Amino acid sequence: MADPTNHANAANPLPVATVDDVKRINPLVPMKARVTRIIEETSDVKTFCVSTIGEDGMPAAPFHTGPGQLAMLSLPGVGEAMFSATDAPDHLQISIKKVGLLTEQLHEICEGQTVGIRGPYGNGFDMEAMKGKNVLFIGGGIGLAPVRSVVRYCVDHREDYGNLHLIYGARTYDDLVFKYDLFETWPKVPDFKVSVTVDRGDDNWKGNVGFVPAFIEQLHPSPENTVCILCGPPIMIKFTLGVLDKLGFTPENVITTLEMRMKCGIGKCGRCNIGSCFVCLDGPVFSLAQLKLLPNEY
Ligand SMILES: Cc1cc2nc3c(=O)[nH]c(=O)nc-3n(C[C@H](O)[C@H](O)[C@H](O)COP(=O)(O)OP(=O)(O)OC[C@H]3O[C@@H](n4cnc5c(N)ncnc54)[C@H](O)[C@@H]3O)c2cc1C
Ligand code: FES
Repeated sequence: MADPTNHANAANPLPVATVDDVKRINPLVPMKARVTRIIEETSDVKTFCVSTIGEDGMPAAPFHTGPGQLAMLSLPGVGEAMFSATDAPDHLQISIKKVGLLTEQLHEICEGQTVGIRGPYGNGFDMEAMKGKNVLFIGGGIGLAPVRSVVRYCVDHREDYGNLHLIYGARTYDDLVFKYDLFETWPKVPDFKVSVTVDRGDDNWKGNVGFVPAFIEQLHPSPENTVCILCGPPIMIKFTLGVLDKLGFTPENVITTLEMRMKCGIGKCGRCNIGSCFVCLDGPVFSLAQLKLLPNEY
């Protein structure tokens, strides 16, 4: 007997869904992207420049992210994870620290290889609200990746922001990421002070030696009309918040980005929630004042 639910017949065949149809319907299906360049930042951090491509392998419409937004990057058969993305004119830059299964495999890929990408996700930094203010950036280790997207925005829209000051630290000179920005590009930007420290000095390093929070105390940045963008390992954040409080920064003017584990990125899996808030949708960027209203689960 014919299946009564099957309405297809030779004269009226059922439509066949194309890959594009599936992508339109299912936001979890990634777009194809090509890794066009890989920059070795340190022994365990690489920056991947990726551009989206169509099914025919030709360049597709650029994938744009705002400062602080995210992209889900995948390797078929291995897995996917969320990363901070920095927008460049015709591609995305994603800096990845080798810490586990997926990131180890990503570190093995070569220029020209394809990966999956979906997004952009997350609220990003409110660059409009920061207009006319001085911006103090504080980063530790790979935490400079999300901070860098904001720095680049402020540099590209220099007239909209006041004085810029970046305070950045890593374990050693070799662990400093984006050295070309830290020591070449950014020091040439007007009214942009770049202060770098390392935990342990060596023959390659002539600058400050010491942890980021102590370095901030030493530099004593003013809270006057200043927004602070803070991102780094939890221990650095913890001690830095104490110093910022002592210097007079209010919780409304300290903005950070959270790294809760994420699976879907679209508010469905419940992996990233803090109370009723979904970090993938409502964050990852929060002011300290907003975080104080949430349960301490991050
Ligand atoms: C909002 C957001 C932004 C992120 N941005 C970046 C980014 O710009 N660059 C980047 O490299 N990663 C970033 N991450 C982390 C990234 O999504 C992965 O969780 C991480 O890279 C681990 O990947 P994995 O699958 O290789 O490791 P797994 O195999 O899942 O983990 C292996 C081990 O590493 C530990 N681990 C997991 N994540 C980290 C971490 N970030 N640092 C140290 N140890 C860790 C785990 O606890 C585990 O013990 C971000 C995460 C979120 C949620
Ligand atoms: S990552 Fe799935 S709900 Fe946020």
